[in-house]
Amino acid sequence: MSEIAGNATHPAVVAIDGPAGSGKSTIAKRLAEALGLEYLDTGAMYRAVTFAVLDGGIDPADETAVAALVGPLDIVVRGSGTVLVEGTDATEAIRTAEVNRNVSVVAAQAAVRTELVGRQRAWAKARGGGVLEGRDIGSAVFPDAMAKIYLTASPQVRAERRAHQIGQTDPAEIRAMADELARRDELDSTRAIDPLAQAEGAIRFDTSDLTIDEVVAELAVLVRARAAEVAADAGGDGG
Ligand code: DC
Repeated sequence: MSEIAGNATHPAVVAIDGPAGSGKSTIAKRLAEALGLEYLDTGAMYRAVTFAVLDGGIDPADETAVAALVGPLDIVVRGSGTVLVEGTDATEAIRTAEVNRNVSVVAAQAAVRTELVGRQRAWAKARGGGVLEGRDIGSAVFPDAMAKIYLTASPQVRAERRAHQIGQTDPAEIRAMADELARRDELDSTRAIDPLAQAEGAIRFDTSDLTIDEVVAELAVLVRARAAEVAADAGGDGG
């Protein structure tokens, strides 16, 4: 059983938001393990839709066609990182440069967001909570989340982390990656619907000068404290 108890009516949601390269995925996954909760990478869901759009030869900007595709689209995002689209493994296919280039356009569409946000809420409800990671979890998907965390890091650090992951050492390539990250941040934070922003009540965490272990340890303390507070409120006499 999870050490942090929620239920379908009051799911114990930990919302983690932040820009690309802030360390969200690694941190959210490790934090979920530390807390005994399940983990959902919501960015993988937007990527899965984008992959299906491109794979189907649909213009990513064609909102009508994209809306028709997303409703019945079968997407499975596992805590392990495995992603299935219509039952086929798309774990690597959702992380190509072509998906990177097109995902912001797809993620900006109302029909896509409505559908995926509904699925994210259902996911948490079915589990009594969990750690959800994305751009709008604390602001739009779960504004009443038990704990909200906004992770950031400087653009240079973010690009260097990405470069390290893929074994890239060329400074010019790293600069290009920093530019691409900045371009995506700009699109994600200026779109009309649910832009990337620090949610009200979210705790801001700059991970530039911290190790993953340090961030996870600090966040685990923080979330446990929040959970204890919520439990005390629920069990107290209100006095
Ligand atoms: O975290 P990521 O790079 O895998 O996210 C891919 C894209 O999906 C990114 O452009 C932002 C978008 N996204 C979103 O709009 N809302 C979310 N909750 C998660 C991701």
